Amino acid sequence: MINSELYPVIFKRKSIRKFVKEPLEQSVMEELKYQISKLEPLFENIKTDVAILGEGEVGGIFSIKAPHYIAIYSEEKEGHLLNAGYLLQQLDLFLSKEGVGTLWLGMGKPQETLNARNGLKYVITLVFGKANEEIHRNSASEYKRKELNEISSIDGAEKLIEAVRLAPSSTNNQPWYIEGTENKMAIYCKKLSLVKNTFFPLMKKFLPIDMGIALCHLKIAAANFDKEIDFKKENKSSNKNYEYIITAYTKQIDG
Ligand SMILES: Cc1cc2nc3c(=O)[nH]c(=O)nc-3n(C[C@H](O)[C@H](O)[C@H](O)COP(=O)(O)O)c2cc1C
Repeated sequence: MINSELYPVIFKRKSIRKFVKEPLEQSVMEELKYQISKLEPLFENIKTDVAILGEGEVGGIFSIKAPHYIAIYSEEKEGHLLNAGYLLQQLDLFLSKEGVGTLWLGMGKPQETLNARNGLKYVITLVFGKANEEIHRNSASEYKRKELNEISSIDGAEKLIEAVRLAPSSTNNQPWYIEGTENKMAIYCKKLSLVKNTFFPLMKKFLPIDMGIALCHLKIAAANFDKEIDFKKENKSSNKNYEYIITAYTKQIDG
């Protein structure tokens, strides 16, 4: 599922908040189910399940009306939120590539009976359906994002880090910071205490999901430039503003 076909989507995807009521064609839904079966986790040792839910099955006062929702469920252990972000971002990009509108919905709430599935706990929703607004952006200049030098001190890895820069994040927080070298990138997340916004209690959950999304973009960009990335958690300390998350070891794929 993580391949260079998703790379161009990074430069045009956007959140869609207006959906056509009608469900998508059966063929699109079948292809989506196939793609769900092909998802690549960040951490193999975390059990997850992805469910396609229908109209009315996800609510909450800040919910968005749409014909379909994807809910991800996970066992709760170290890294499970990073992993959930990493997994669902593959579907966000796949659906956008297919011309289907999507929205990460942190403020959604599934019906009570859908809060758990096969012993796994509900994590977050991706809304999807036919868009009732412009589906894509036309250029990177339409993204409201920090500049590259605000999110990284690395020289020479711009092509990879640009994909992180454009990643979606909760309330557009863009909590990521990357340092080191192109071959060994240490990836950090802004400390929760420095995130100030109305949804503060939920940010504890959203920040690691944001970081998982960013790692997914990094991996896809690497694939596009024939590079392989191995993510390894190392014994690195955090600093005043940033929490250490993981290190990305990048190498060129031969041939
Ligand atoms: C984890 C997460 C949760 C989000 N929750 C919501 C939400 O509840 N409601 C909403 O309208 N947008 C939500 N968003 C969408 C972000 O606001 C959006 O991705 C960000 O502003 C960047 O805009 P873009 O996706 O159009 O590039 C969420 C995004 C992420 C990554």
